[in-house]
Amino acid sequence: MPQPPLRVFSGIQPTADSLHLGNYLGALRQWVSLQDDYDCVYSVVDLHALTVGPDPAALRQRVRATAAQFLAAGVDPDRSILFVQSQVPQHAQLTWLLNCVAGFGEASRMTQFKDKAAKLGDKAITVGLFDYPVLMAADILLYDANLVPVGEDQRQHLELSRTLAARLNSRFGEGAAVVPEPLIVKATAKIHDLQEPSAKMSKTGHPAGIIELLDDPKTIAKRVKAAVTDSGSEIAWDPANKPGIANLLSIYSALTGRPVGQIVEDYSGKLYGHLKADLAEAVIEALRPFRERTALYLDDPGQLDQLLRTGAGRAEALARVVYQRIAARFGLAQGTASR
Ligand code: TYM
Repeated sequence: MPQPPLRVFSGIQPTADSLHLGNYLGALRQWVSLQDDYDCVYSVVDLHALTVGPDPAALRQRVRATAAQFLAAGVDPDRSILFVQSQVPQHAQLTWLLNCVAGFGEASRMTQFKDKAAKLGDKAITVGLFDYPVLMAADILLYDANLVPVGEDQRQHLELSRTLAARLNSRFGEGAAVVPEPLIVKATAKIHDLQEPSAKMSKTGHPAGIIELLDDPKTIAKRVKAAVTDSGSEIAWDPANKPGIANLLSIYSALTGRPVGQIVEDYSGKLYGHLKADLAEAVIEALRPFRERTALYLDDPGQLDQLLRTGAGRAEALARVVYQRIAARFGLAQGTASR
């Protein structure tokens, strides 16, 4: 008997007007190619974005902008389910159930929480920020996802999702939850900040260290050319001693499909400036159609909202079944009131 395709789930937070190259190479690009072989569910995770207290109008705009970028990158709403997390109420509902099996110590060990908490200080840390990884586990378990394409920075959160799924199975019997596998593509798992190559490229990093997908060509060229490079002048693959150049080579290779070794050979005897000029051109050309397509989707917000409502309806149809299955295992009352 043919097996049904495996299920993929992933999400990106609407916390900026534009996604950056790390989001694209680390996650979004994989989302697009996975559609050929898997049953994919992709979400703009706005409930996660609430943990940083965004301005409501900005959040509303960024939800649309993020969805438009998923579409522009090639997420196909006919083949995949594309939706906004808060439009499917079971995400919050399942989070509560998982809160009641997740350990306080376990959640306290999440390094992203510890880093953010250290930056914010005790008074500004919300319970939501602490609970963020449990909401993420709920996102994944709610669709019985087998595979979760993410960047390296999400590995520990994925491990918690796996632990919680396994715990449901050991507490309530096999079949309570599917234990998901992370899908982390090594070559692009961590794109680094252009100004601080030891750090990951991040929405909260130094603006000059980021390439946003919606940046105009002039800005892209400026950022690439100003990227911090290492002492010496030889273009070589040496991530430990030449992290700046290694980052540029990784990006160049990911965008052109040429192996790093071949690029290094091509630039033998050339200067950092040559590599930067060619890389800037490659990034500009790769992002030009992306920017144009995003603008087209944003030109018609009514149609975009409609597309997202349809996606939410399809997502909820899946989520309702899984939520009820898990809730029943906990012993919660069966059935829902008619709506
Ligand atoms: P977020 O919104 O911070 O990032 C979205 C995706 O981009 C990846 N990423 C990177 N990859 C490589 N290099 C980088 N510099 C880089 N920066 C970010 C992230 O790993 C991520 O895949 N918690 C998640 C969102 C989320 C989620 C989920 C993901 C919520 N629920 C369920 C998967 C499944 C996050 O904050 O991603």
